[in-house]
Amino acid sequence: MKLFITALILMMGISPECPADNPENGKVYTLPAPSIKGAMSVEEALQQRRSRRQFLDKELSIEQLSQILWSAYGITVKRDDYPVLRGGLRTAPSAGALYPLEIYVLIGNVKGIEPGLYKYNSKEHSIKCTISGDLRKDACSAAYNQKMLREAPATLFYSAVFERCTKKYRERGKERYVCMDLGHSAENVYLQAEALHLGTCAVGAFSDEALKKLLQLPADEEPLYMMPFGYCK
Ligand SMILES: Cc1cc2nc3c(=O)[nH]c(=O)nc-3n(C[C@H](O)[C@H](O)[C@H](O)COP(=O)(O)O)c2cc1C
Repeated sequence: MKLFITALILMMGISPECPADNPENGKVYTLPAPSIKGAMSVEEALQQRRSRRQFLDKELSIEQLSQILWSAYGITVKRDDYPVLRGGLRTAPSAGALYPLEIYVLIGNVKGIEPGLYKYNSKEHSIKCTISGDLRKDACSAAYNQKMLREAPATLFYSAVFERCTKKYRERGKERYVCMDLGHSAENVYLQAEALHLGTCAVGAFSDEALKKLLQLPADEEPLYMMPFGYCK
């Protein structure tokens, strides 16, 4: 029976390191549609934006989570005619519209969502559980014990498939464009967090190896950023 379940999991593309009998693995949550009207102007968000590092472990709503993920890489113009777009044009610009980034979110304390690691699907505006359980302590140790990773109710992780960009742009894609894309998306998250009266901080100091292992990244994905977010102390 165990062998059968493991084979099934492998066929579904889920890591066999997830306990096979955990019903949360592979579970998909469709997120509520993002709001495109907010209480704060973009100018106010720019004026107030700061890197915030002290979070309350206060529950976030699924609407707040939806808004943060949408600001990072949500689809704003659907395009199914051009497969390389993987769904359409997004909130953040991308060199050649190649969208090399992948976004994961670690859920610790979000109402109605089991703690775990989830992968964001821009096209469906949904998240899918890849590893269940509260992984905040592991994220904190991967980031050389930066406390905010342990305290924040949720953290975005960015990784990149460099090949999507280097196929067209060669070295320039690797040395410049992928990280430029990342900066655009991460700034969106900063501004969206401010506009929701939440806070975030871009974190680039972490062990690549530890993070790859924690996120169980495929071999062609490199981790780039962590962005814990939540209510600030
Ligand atoms: C590429 C990059 C990596 C960063 N890594 C970290 C980090 O690992 N830990 C941290 O506390 N802040 C990190 N920051 C945030 C910076 O420290 C912060 O942006 C800077 O102090 C300016 O403050 P401000 O964002 O509030 O304007 C990083 C910022 C960038 C752009």
